[in-house]
Amino acid sequence: MNDSNMLADRFGVEASDLELRDDAHAVHRQLAGRGSIRQFRDEPVPNQTLRRLCALALCAPTKSDLQQRDIIIVESPALRSRIAAGLTEGRLGQKWLGAIPNLLIFCGNNRRQRQIHALRGKDFANDHLDAFFNASVDAAIALSAFVVAAEAEGLGVCPISAVRNQPDTLARLLRLPDHVFPVAGLAVGFPAARPKRSPRLPLSVTLHYDTYSDDDLSSRIEEYDRRRSAVQPYTSQRYADEFGLAEDYGWSEDKARQYAFPERQHFGDYIRRIGFKLD
Ligand SMILES: Cc1cc2nc3c(=O)[nH]c(=O)nc-3n(C[C@H](O)[C@H](O)[C@H](O)COP(=O)(O)O)c2cc1C
Repeated sequence: MNDSNMLADRFGVEASDLELRDDAHAVHRQLAGRGSIRQFRDEPVPNQTLRRLCALALCAPTKSDLQQRDIIIVESPALRSRIAAGLTEGRLGQKWLGAIPNLLIFCGNNRRQRQIHALRGKDFANDHLDAFFNASVDAAIALSAFVVAAEAEGLGVCPISAVRNQPDTLARLLRLPDHVFPVAGLAVGFPAARPKRSPRLPLSVTLHYDTYSDDDLSSRIEEYDRRRSAVQPYTSQRYADEFGLAEDYGWSEDKARQYAFPERQHFGDYIRRIGFKLD
């Protein structure tokens, strides 16, 4: 992809007015050029670096200053192997997770708030969906801030929703108490490959002015499939046994196939079991 017009490369011609000039902020260039990394050098990131990046991530905005998110750095190699074992096996298993140099788990934490209510002798009167939702959003915002901070210093990262495939096992391994839950893991390391810049849906689909619209969605998705396949064709087809081999296999076919089978359908049961009311 061309470096001067990274946003047009990402979003298509309709973003050609968004060219990043030579004097564009470094973080804007970084965001436009970023991509997840799944191949790492066999060398851990120093603990002090991880601590600094976690501290920076925890500077991100947090709902009502409640600070309902925590990060767990999985330091013990034995513990990391046990967690990785659950991530690499089974239908949703991902082999690359067996060889990541550093693993972090971003958690939503509504327990501390409840403890503060006990400490201050006040009822917790918000035992409904918001308690789970706010903590999840806080954790996701911290994850995003970590990604930006880590990529700024040349590290590679990839979030891992697979840590929620078997939440009870992970919760046991990490000794997560009630009302503390994994939102996503994050693989971190020194990259062994250059990031791919995946084209994104056009802004006409994902950016709205005043009111929501999804007019012309099917033609815009078709156009996106074509644009994306031209620069980043899929090298294999998901669930080929079930759906056969498609002649024209693009992003929308891949995403429809992915969610044609349940993933993490028991996560809600787990969240209820650890004490959340989701009404
Ligand atoms: C919450 C979250 C969970 C993710 N989980 C996984 C995962 O389990 N495995 C994986 O390979 N990538 C995972 N990803 C990375 C996405 O697949 C990736 O961000 C997406 O394909 C876009 O690619 P890019 O980050 O290179 O632009 C996750 C991303 C997010 C935000």
